[in-house]
Amino acid sequence: MRRLCVIPGDGIGQEVVPVAVRVLERLLPDLQVTEAEAGWDCFQRLGQSVPEATLQAMRDCGAGLFGAVSSPSNAVAGYRSAILTLRQQLALGVNLRPVRSWPGLSDRSGVDLLILRENSEGLYVGKEHMATADLAIAECHISRQASEHIAQRASEIAKLRTSRRITLVHKANVLPLTCGLFRDSCRKVLDAHGLSALVDERLVDVAALQLVERPEEFDLIVTTNLFGDVLSDLASHWGGGLGLAPSLNWGQGIALAEPVHGSAPDIAGSGRANPLAAVLSAGLLLRYHWQLIEQADRLDRAVEGLLRSMGKADWGKHTTRRAEQELIARL
Ligand code: NAI
Ligand code: MG
Repeated sequence: MRRLCVIPGDGIGQEVVPVAVRVLERLLPDLQVTEAEAGWDCFQRLGQSVPEATLQAMRDCGAGLFGAVSSPSNAVAGYRSAILTLRQQLALGVNLRPVRSWPGLSDRSGVDLLILRENSEGLYVGKEHMATADLAIAECHISRQASEHIAQRASEIAKLRTSRRITLVHKANVLPLTCGLFRDSCRKVLDAHGLSALVDERLVDVAALQLVERPEEFDLIVTTNLFGDVLSDLASHWGGGLGLAPSLNWGQGIALAEPVHGSAPDIAGSGRANPLAAVLSAGLLLRYHWQLIEQADRLDRAVEGLLRSMGKADWGKHTTRRAEQELIARL
């Protein structure tokens, strides 16, 4: 029996997550679902964006599906970003973002790549200070442990995907200590898994150009936090945009799936939210965390069938409901 902690959050999170849950329940009839709260609405009611009960529910279930949360545009005393809190408290050190061509939506066929981004350190450790009135300094932390952890994950994924290539993206020519430690730690782990023949390296600037010019050439990209943040948004262009971009936050024995998009207040409540990013995020739990490959393949085929059958004109006022009906009929 699989357990899933469901955290819809704010805005369209409340609309797309239930669709993804119903799809998962179709594929896994004995799925046991626990609801939990997080986000801005939760903060206004309870004074916390992620209550302890939500963290505990996630730990108990070992797997979660998060929708999106709204963030206030000005700093609010006591408010911390819910997704950052979840990533930190649950030690979800790796972020996985696949990008593939979809029929009818992508500008290009033949793209099928996966970006693994270190999710806990790098330039995003939040250690900035003013050294003088005219000099601001941000620290960049790269640890052997976190680098080995992401490479370990890359090894597992490379075997599941029967990857053609694993590309380490860094900037070790300019940052030999931090990026160098990342690269060397990754290589050591990948070597130990017998994968050294697949390993390739790119400097981040070259990788960005190639992701624009020849995205088909990439398979599995492994990189640090900031580079992964930028490259994964860039690459998502080839995958049909935000309405289809899924992700998985991953730690040791625990994972939290999450569509890349936010709470979309401009369309919340209108029935127009595309649930496919949330559905595909649930698919990442199936494929990579639970390793239920057959169910994951069924889900992907259903999404492909839906995209083939629905023309652009069909995406309108009833997108959320329509997409769910079309998907369920294909599972
Ligand atoms: P957003 O992703 O919510 O929306 C950007 C644009 O894409 C909007 O026009 C929206 O209608 C559209 N869109 C997004 N998802 C869609 C879907 N599934 N179907 C159809 N259209 C979709 O980003 P935005 O507007 O910058 O932020 C809105 C709120 O979401 C803010 O409070 C922001 O802080 C939060 N946010 C939360 C994230 C998270 O929870 N991980 C990530 C990004 C933003
Ligand atoms: Mg981003």
